[in-house]
Amino acid sequence: MRSVAYRSFAFPNLSQVQLDRIVAGAQRFNRMAGVIGAMLFDGARFLQYIEGPDDGVEGAIGRIRASEDHSRLHVIGDSRVSARRFPFWDMTCLMQPNTVLDRLFVAPWGDQDHAQSDSGEPVGGLLLLKQLLAE
Ligand SMILES: Cc1cc2nc3c(=O)[nH]c(=O)nc-3n(C[C@H](O)[C@H](O)[C@H](O)COP(=O)(O)O)c2cc1C
Repeated sequence: MRSVAYRSFAFPNLSQVQLDRIVAGAQRFNRMAGVIGAMLFDGARFLQYIEGPDDGVEGAIGRIRASEDHSRLHVIGDSRVSARRFPFWDMTCLMQPNTVLDRLFVAPWGDQDHAQSDSGEPVGGLLLLKQLLAE
């Protein structure tokens, strides 16, 4: 299992229709590939976290990199995970203020050892994401 977090810049003036198409395409592929994740958007920038089997994540990343709806993709975390931590995330796109994305861009996403506390709870970017999704 592998997890990847990245940031990117949306194509300027990306429409709601395009956004819906991105999410629908992501959900369709990811479900089939056993990949889960979450996407945050502040109107200009994306942050996405995905996790799943190596080949599923590889396939999703290939599709993500090929998309012309965004550019300047920068990976901020790429780690091995021993088990899926968030089985319920279905790649919904949450609108968030840019201050929230700024925090997540600089949060540690590192490898599993640093992304989990002794009690098994995620820390850093993952914890922030989990809190946002629980709201
Ligand atoms: C911010 C962003 C996130 C994306 N996330 C995923 C993803 O998690 N899984 C996936 O298969 N494709 C992902 N994609 C690719 C889109 O789903 C794909 O470009 C969209 O379905 C449009 O498909 P089309 O180019 O065939 O019209 C993503 C694209 C963008 C811009």
